[in-house]
Amino acid sequence: MIRVRIPATSANLGPGFDCMGLALDLWNTFELYLTDDSEGIRVTTIGEGAGILPTGEKNLTVSVFLEELARLGEEKPKGIHIVTHNTIPCASGMGSSSTATLAGVLFAHAVAKARRGEDPADLDRSAVLESAVAIEGHGDNVAPALLGGFVIVVPNATGVITQRVPTIPVKTVVCVPAYNYLTSQARAALPAEYSKADAIYNIGRAMLVAEALRAGDDELLRRAMTDRIHEPYRLNSIPGAQQAKERALDAGAVSVCLSGAGPGVIAFARDGFDRIGREMNAAFADAGLTSRYWILDAEPNGTRIGRLPV
Ligand code: HSE
Repeated sequence: MIRVRIPATSANLGPGFDCMGLALDLWNTFELYLTDDSEGIRVTTIGEGAGILPTGEKNLTVSVFLEELARLGEEKPKGIHIVTHNTIPCASGMGSSSTATLAGVLFAHAVAKARRGEDPADLDRSAVLESAVAIEGHGDNVAPALLGGFVIVVPNATGVITQRVPTIPVKTVVCVPAYNYLTSQARAALPAEYSKADAIYNIGRAMLVAEALRAGDDELLRRAMTDRIHEPYRLNSIPGAQQAKERALDAGAVSVCLSGAGPGVIAFARDGFDRIGREMNAAFADAGLTSRYWILDAEPNGTRIGRLPV
């Protein structure tokens, strides 16, 4: 019925905890087929997460799809088959689960449109985004995944304020260790309150990171991409992550931070991408972990939505 292709994202970007994210050129594709033979719910996963991700009601895309359909006042379809082709590693800090959430919301809105006789691919992206942010609890993965590029997103009383900031081309190396560090665990590690000094430290730097990415000012990015809100509480829980940051910088990266809540580490660079990736791999290996790295451009356009033949 409908296919959505959703990019990876790196959230936080150092000091922009829960407020800033960047779409990356690595993709998960989700296809929704509605069946009327009462076969129930079936999810087929190909690629990353195959054999691991749930294949029925517990699958994140399915649960979000059903939750959003109910919120829209729509009936549950008789039979659902979802096929996902994943190239984003799961639980990596590259927004894989956000692609699943976003797909579920997009599918619900597409079904509602189709039932009204409208084009299911012609979706109201702001309504989709508000639901996806409400479900995730923060928008720094789902907003760039939907809109593409570098996005600032903050909640307000009625929904979200979103600003897509055009940047000069950005290239990254994201290194992901084989280490189980769930976002829920990473969020639980954070304090409930912060000092005024830490708030000021981060507010200023978040603005500087946005300006550095907009202007392509590498020196500013290098100086601004530090954080006191989340990295100090998370980095030491990921063996080798601090060393991966240091070795990427030594290998010529412009700036490096935890990708989202981790365990992945993202390095911004202009050249020497493989060298940076190999150095980060070596840092994780020294800590006893295998890791993989991806050299990724920023992705400017966000989620693609297309109809499938019924
Ligand atoms: N801003 C979120 C966090 C991103 O750091 O917890 C994780 O998806």
